[in-house]
Amino acid sequence: MISAEHIKKTFGDREVLRDISFRIPRGEIFGLLGPSGAGKTTLIKILTGQLAATSGQASILDTRAEKLTMSQRREIGIMMDEFGLYGRLSCYDNLKVFALLYGIDRREIRKTLAAVGLSGSEKAPVEKLSKGMKNRLRLARAFLTNPRILFLDEPTAGLDPATAEEIHALLLERKRLGATVFLTTHNMTEAEKLCDRIALLDKGHILESGSPQEVCRRYNRLKQILVHLSDERDISFPAVPASAPEISALLAEGTVETIHSSEPNLESVFMELTGSKLNG
Ligand SMILES: Nc1ncnc2c1ncn2[C@@H]1O[C@H](COP(=O)(O)OP(=O)(O)OP(=O)(O)O)[C@@H](O)[C@H]1O
Ligand SMILES: [Mg+2]
Repeated sequence: MISAEHIKKTFGDREVLRDISFRIPRGEIFGLLGPSGAGKTTLIKILTGQLAATSGQASILDTRAEKLTMSQRREIGIMMDEFGLYGRLSCYDNLKVFALLYGIDRREIRKTLAAVGLSGSEKAPVEKLSKGMKNRLRLARAFLTNPRILFLDEPTAGLDPATAEEIHALLLERKRLGATVFLTTHNMTEAEKLCDRIALLDKGHILESGSPQEVCRRYNRLKQILVHLSDERDISFPAVPASAPEISALLAEGTVETIHSSEPNLESVFMELTGSKLNG
């Protein structure tokens, strides 16, 4: 559904993206992670045809990003800061402007506002909305054409956990309905929970990609099994067959409270690879 082939982007003499390639199949939630300034927003702009790559090719629905037709554009929902909202207009009127542009039936507006939990705020001017509500409205606009592909640049940035959770549920629902989702995030827990695959972008390069679990397993250097006992003792065993009798003896005693494997979480993998925290 989405493909990048050897994309490079330079601004003046600054190379922001260096040889980026990937393919995202239909129905996948793909997460692009990386520190601030890594080039995530730039890549979304190139993939959606808002910005030309210096070289390489971005395609959506087997069409080059810069050649997408109006009807193909309707298949693509985009949520990013650059797509601003009109502060003085109401939620409803913001979507109406967009509906007119894309020739969408007005009835879809109420339906979409309801889907993102903004039914009660149709008449509220956008400038009076909270950050979470504005984000929902941006999502509503991205959803309005019922697109097959969604590009979401930090859809839950700065939101409280409950609102972020609701947005996750909306995205999983879109996936269930067959949509392909490309998102960026600084939130590792979000990436682990939502994404089928992730890629870590740093200084214009993709350093790692795969399912979150795969990527974490690749960095499981300790290869240990950590057992926490009910008397608060922690014991670690090498993850080898020879440890099985001792672990099963502890299990048989009924003193085992938790067992964990030693692979790192995404946060620590990325800290190791980029040398910086991802909370940009
Ligand atoms: N139009 C532009 N002209 C010049 N430089 C730009 C332009 N747009 C982006 N850049 C530079 O490209 C680099 C990548 O920016 P980008 O916005 O893509 O990063 P990002 O990964 O989205 O960061 P963040 O997580 O903070 O949103 C930055 O150094 C930025 O200053
Ligand atoms: Mg960005």
